[in-house]
Amino acid sequence: MSNIDLSVKIGSLILKNPLMLASGTVGYGNEISNFTDLSKIGAIVTKSVSLKPRKGNPPQRIVETPSGMLNAIGLANVGLEEFIKTKIPFLKEVDSTLICNIAASSIEEYVECTKTLDGEETVKAFEINVSCPNVKEGGLIFGNDIISVGKITEKVRAVTNKPVIIKLSPNVSAISDFAKVVKDEGGDAVSAINTLIGTSFDIYKRTPKIKNITGGLSGPAIKPVALAKVLEISRKVDIPIIGIGGIMNWKDAVEFMIVGATAFQIGTVNFINPNAGIEIIDGLKSYCEQMNISKISELTASYQL
Ligand SMILES: Cc1cc2nc3c(=O)[nH]c(=O)nc-3n(C[C@H](O)[C@H](O)[C@H](O)COP(=O)(O)O)c2cc1C
Repeated sequence: MSNIDLSVKIGSLILKNPLMLASGTVGYGNEISNFTDLSKIGAIVTKSVSLKPRKGNPPQRIVETPSGMLNAIGLANVGLEEFIKTKIPFLKEVDSTLICNIAASSIEEYVECTKTLDGEETVKAFEINVSCPNVKEGGLIFGNDIISVGKITEKVRAVTNKPVIIKLSPNVSAISDFAKVVKDEGGDAVSAINTLIGTSFDIYKRTPKIKNITGGLSGPAIKPVALAKVLEISRKVDIPIIGIGGIMNWKDAVEFMIVGATAFQIGTVNFINPNAGIEIIDGLKSYCEQMNISKISELTASYQL
């Protein structure tokens, strides 16, 4: 095999390749480790962790939709203390980069979680979830409000020197305005996108298929939307972008990099094929060989309009 350089840089964070496992789709890495080789993955983003444990929403929490799925998990998670005690020790042994995703219902809670996790050597960067559509407090209340996103970025930035990535909501009219605020307040990168709000009804019972009524749409159905959001940010703001949304194979990943992504995450596909990440990395390598690309980072924002 040739020696193509697959490494990418996001702020001070260097990843061995641009493929990351998206938050909420592989638990804390442990849920997928029997089915794939995590040491080949660029980075693992953990399920959103909050200060206190959360039960999440009542079932039904997931439903399949054409070319995608709706979920309204409601940020169920073990809470910060348990995460540090029982999840970090497993992740410490994995030879991949650990990015901790944090959710909160107040700015103070984001800050406290970040401060506490900053002391954990295994955690290499933070992804701040300001964009979960499935919780009443926090979530989109922050993600839709540019002032809050700026404040969260500023306050979290102040308590860590590790890279701070803000995960943006697509449920806004101008996502690039949010990316600009993140950059101005000292954020290192943005992740785009979180899920789109959707719903689905049973036509015989006339009831929502998801107990929460609405859920977050993910999977191939959202890929064109996600690509457009990444391109919009790339054209307007000079900040590294982590592209997310409907990536099912290496071709989708290449498309995200061309429209501006430095790295990318895979989510829904992990439920269909837990080894998809490795297959995508192999496909990227072959594509680079075929196209005479020696460094994959050359692909980022290489669009011709
Ligand atoms: C079941 C499920 C749970 C998720 N949980 C989280 C979460 O806890 N935090 C978060 O930031 N994003 C969460 N997401 C969003 C994904 O990380 C990702 O942004 C989204 O699914 C789009 O990517 P995909 O189309 O590749 O799945 C979740 C997605 C799914 C499908």
